[in-house]
Amino acid sequence: MYQTLLTSLQNGIFTITINRPDKLNALNQLVMQELNQAITEVYEHAEIRSAIITGAGNKAFVAGADISEFVGASVEEGKALAKKGQDIFFRIERSPKPIVACVNGFALGGGCELAMSCHFRLASENAKFGQPEVNLGLIPGYGGTQRLVQLIGKGRALEMLMSASMIDAATALQYGLVNYVLPAEELVSKAIAILDTINSKAPLAVAKCIESANAVFDETKNGYLVELNTFGDCFGTADMKEGTSAFLEKRKASFQGK
Ligand code: COA
Repeated sequence: MYQTLLTSLQNGIFTITINRPDKLNALNQLVMQELNQAITEVYEHAEIRSAIITGAGNKAFVAGADISEFVGASVEEGKALAKKGQDIFFRIERSPKPIVACVNGFALGGGCELAMSCHFRLASENAKFGQPEVNLGLIPGYGGTQRLVQLIGKGRALEMLMSASMIDAATALQYGLVNYVLPAEELVSKAIAILDTINSKAPLAVAKCIESANAVFDETKNGYLVELNTFGDCFGTADMKEGTSAFLEKRKASFQGK
């Protein structure tokens, strides 16, 4: 169905594997278009409860946007490219279903930006993160200057952005860029274990956690007000009635996503 992605669905977890290992899974326009389509699947298919994004092979998650497509582009084309990339990564960030990055090697440029647009990240021991765009006379264009500052703070982010230096997995863990560092072969199984736990919770409440946390970084919103409203909205759900009743009746809740 896809030319550049492998996808599978198991127990409600949709795994999207970017599959251009000979080009270190670089994001060309076809990958971006198909990634957008795969995210639409996450949004629309009721049987998908959450998703994992990873890269094929044992070397790279994604080594960046495909540099060969940048050659000869104009200022206007550069802006259009960034707009397209930013919009796709916003859809990942704003997905009502959790999307986790399993970073199994290089996450550079657009690869680091893709990982950062996910709700959280796990890294293999050989993972390396970086925004090397200044090597090309560029800066990140898919949200990297914003999300790197959000996730690791301005000083660390600007050092990475301006020097193009890569950080290893242990440093990424120390910076809070990733939640776990694991041997590569344990990466996806750990993500599945976490998502199995999340998938056992009330889906609408999980979606509202994402919406409310995203509001922290949205200047057009008052995050406390978003929290207040989404908290209130939970009272109108069948799952909240079920969850609270189940607790009081000392039984396991059975959530319907309603
Ligand atoms: N865009 C296009 N092609 C890329 C790519 C990218 N971002 N990253 C890697 N590739 C290609 C290489 O051109 C090479 O293709 P080839 O075999 O046809 O020559 C192939 O992937 C393997 O990469 P190679 O550079 O030979 O591997 P390496 O182990 O020597 O180096 C990296 C690995 C990640 C350090 C190096 O590939 C690199 O610096 N990539 C670019 C990273 C970058 O600047 N990303 C930001 C883009 S905005």
